[in-house]
Amino acid sequence: MKILVLNGPNLGRLDLRDSKVYGDIDFPALTELIVSAGKEFNIECDVRQSDSEVEIISWLHEAADKNTPVIINPAAFTHYSYAIRDAADMVKAPLIEVHLSNPMSREEFRHTSVISGVANGTIAGFGPDSYRLALIAISRMVK
Ligand code: DQA
Repeated sequence: MKILVLNGPNLGRLDLRDSKVYGDIDFPALTELIVSAGKEFNIECDVRQSDSEVEIISWLHEAADKNTPVIINPAAFTHYSYAIRDAADMVKAPLIEVHLSNPMSREEFRHTSVISGVANGTIAGFGPDSYRLALIAISRMVK
């Protein structure tokens, strides 16, 4: 099975972000970890990152057209992008929202996710393991 693993703004520069929140992993290492975790579940992970809302929306359209499952960390777009929410809603295959940190234990503006309502589920707060847990969820849902 092939899936898309989409990552939003600033996740490509994890190396520069607060390591107390995001740990020490950089984006290339996170990508490697996701790809190798995927192999354990026979899932081919196409990991992408963009700082552009337009590009993320076009990837969600691609997933909707091809009926491809999605793991998405919308990053800051989580909290206000109705456009990404509407695009995520078009994906009928499983779609799991993930976060490295636990937004609910952070600043108040992070307590709202406009994406959760159209995701099958949300996994947050487990660092890179959030992606691994999402892979487990997808492998079970697609069985
Ligand atoms: C994040 C949490 C968001 O609030 C933040 O804007 C991010 C990363 C996470 O993975 O913990 O960029 O999605």
